[in-house]
Amino acid sequence: MSTVLVLNGPNLGRLGSREPDVYGSANLDDLRALLVTCARDGVSIDLRQTDDEAELIHWLYEAVDERMPVIMNPAAFTHYSYALRDAAALVTKAGLALIEVHISNPHARETFRHTSVVSAIATGVIAGLGFDSYRLALDFVTAP
Ligand code: DQA
Repeated sequence: MSTVLVLNGPNLGRLGSREPDVYGSANLDDLRALLVTCARDGVSIDLRQTDDEAELIHWLYEAVDERMPVIMNPAAFTHYSYALRDAAALVTKAGLALIEVHISNPHARETFRHTSVVSAIATGVIAGLGFDSYRLALDFVTAP
């Protein structure tokens, strides 16, 4: 059984009630259920959320140590956290996939969301497709 880490940053624990016009009305449990349903045989989904930058960074260390590919929605950290970017770089430098995902399309929103400090070190970026951003990332990181 291989495990994919699906990491979610600040305020994503409020999905379902947070700005449903932007993020939809489904919550993280719905996302987990979708990914478990879509996962290939032998792939397990470890979906986590935190509002804490340090915790997110430590989960990236865990991905390196346990050799797990990562799907990460860094949420607002996307736009300014060099510490998170440096930790994410450890993942890709270790030869593991790290896909940056977003539910909304940050480029179609406020100017501050147009910058991602993570994208340059990510394996790829998928944005604006709702939960399908995660589903497509899962397909990629678990492709045979
Ligand atoms: C987000 C976009 C970010 O700009 C925002 O801060 C989020 C969610 C998204 O999934 O669309 O919290 O990452």
